[in-house]
Amino acid sequence: MTQYITVAPHETLEAKNGVIKLHGPEGFEGMRRAGRLAAEILDMLVPHVVPGVSTAELDRLVFEHMRRAGAVPATLGYRGYTHSCCISLNHVVCHGIPSEKTLKDGDIVNIDVTPVLDGWHGDTSRMYLVGDVSVKARRLVDVTYECLMIGLEQAKPGNRLGDISAAIQRHAEKHRYSVVRDFCGHGLGRLFHDSPEVVHAGRPGTGPELRPGMFFTVEPMINIGRADCKLLDDGWTAVTRDRSLSAQFEHSIGITQTGCEIFTQSPAGLDKPPY
Ligand code: MF3
Ligand code: CO
Ligand code: CO
Repeated sequence: MTQYITVAPHETLEAKNGVIKLHGPEGFEGMRRAGRLAAEILDMLVPHVVPGVSTAELDRLVFEHMRRAGAVPATLGYRGYTHSCCISLNHVVCHGIPSEKTLKDGDIVNIDVTPVLDGWHGDTSRMYLVGDVSVKARRLVDVTYECLMIGLEQAKPGNRLGDISAAIQRHAEKHRYSVVRDFCGHGLGRLFHDSPEVVHAGRPGTGPELRPGMFFTVEPMINIGRADCKLLDDGWTAVTRDRSLSAQFEHSIGITQTGCEIFTQSPAGLDKPPY
């Protein structure tokens, strides 16, 4: 049985292991601001994601933007992670660590940012195309974005989390892609990773019921090849076992009376490439 708690502002910081928090207007306002900042950072990066730039340089731009906005990167110091964002290239599924490695023509790259603004977490990621990208890779990126948005169509009161998962899986598999099972979306708010776990493949009508005030991310990772991942020796970088390309988009949302509010929509309309 899923448990829910309508949280008063002073309760939002508490981990309630397994209990799903239902936030009020103050939470929506906090998430709106954090989410907008997160989206603006991804907008800002667009002209910088070009052949020759190092991923460490992009990480510095992310850090500086957050600092100027009065936010801090949730990832900095998180479980020993020492960077301001994750940058995942080509066959990297997620949690790629920024480094002196440079982007090259034809790369597809995910940048995932999580500013904490006034205690609220805005968590979002998008794919970027570096120079000339193959039709095959662009198709993966397009379908992955569609998976996210088709999933979000199911994010409304009365539906269950499994309705989102099933819609994503159905769309991915229709295109003969696979859905990564090793990583999932998550509740968030004043905590970075809270209940519930949001899996991206599953059966309709299963899982916790969606109720107004729930905050969570949807962040499907879709592979051209098999779903299996492995972790590199750095303890963070997850790659596809078969080295096939992988793509991901992420939004942070809040369930409303009638559907969902996407906190991390791009104010500039740059939600998906081409930008
Ligand atoms: N932003 C990622 C997410 O969507 C989490 C990154 S944690 C890190 O949940 F430590 F790898 F940065
Ligand atoms: Co997330
Ligand atoms: Co993220």
